Amino acid sequence: MLQVTNAVVRYGSITALHGISFNVEAGEIVTLLGANGAGKTTTLRMLSGLHAPTEGSIVFEGNDVTLTKAHQFTGLGISHVPEGRRIFPQMTVEENLEMGAFGRRGPIAEDMEKMYETFPILKDRRKQMGGNLSGGEQQMLAIARALMGRPRLLLLDEPSMGLAPMIAETIFRIIGEIRDSGTTVFLVEQNAAQALRLADRGYVMENGRIVFGDTAANLLIDERVRAVYLGEEV
Ligand SMILES: Nc1ncnc2c1ncn2[C@@H]1O[C@H](COP(=O)(O)OP(=O)(O)O)[C@@H](O)[C@H]1O
Ligand SMILES: [Mg+2]
Repeated sequence: MLQVTNAVVRYGSITALHGISFNVEAGEIVTLLGANGAGKTTTLRMLSGLHAPTEGSIVFEGNDVTLTKAHQFTGLGISHVPEGRRIFPQMTVEENLEMGAFGRRGPIAEDMEKMYETFPILKDRRKQMGGNLSGGEQQMLAIARALMGRPRLLLLDEPSMGLAPMIAETIFRIIGEIRDSGTTVFLVEQNAAQALRLADRGYVMENGRIVFGDTAANLLIDERVRAVYLGEEV
């Protein structure tokens, strides 16, 4: 579904991604693990057209999208839930969801009902301002807003960040449901243990390079992953 080959991304004179290669197959959850500053967010920004690579290529569903701009990505079938959620705080939950469908064809009422089934709390809060929601509710809204664009590939940037463990658990469960309902997921996480329990495959990133990748089951028992990313958790 997605094939990234030797992609290089620079911020001025700083090279953030040193020629990374990886792939995502339809129906998978693939997780990208790595410490702060490794280049995970930059990878997602590249995949949603916010920061084009200066070298290498991105092929999505057989089309070269290396130089596709951000505003064209929703039409393409890729939605991005950014780090820190970035919902519209001065809009209601309902308006936030409508914005997620902006630029795509087709009705929205039916999709909104589907979101309210997946995230019942958002239905209760539908007339409230996004800014008045709790952190977990804002994360649910950010994911629901992205799904309103009917993506085939959903990019998630640290969805569990800053959430209480029980709320994070709910978010991970819903990500599993999203995959099961047919949307492919590329999940960036610092919470390696939970991400690997959920994912089909994973890649480990260090200093702008993908150092290895494997099935999630193998990564969970990998000595290097256990030492650096799992600690005492598993
Ligand atoms: N806008 C920017 N300008 C310059 N350097 C940046 C910018 N954004 C990120 N970086 C640098 O790129 C590297 C990767 O950052 P990032 O992709 O945010 O990592 P992660 O999401 O894994 O924490 C870091 O060294 C960071 O300092
Ligand atoms: Mg980041």
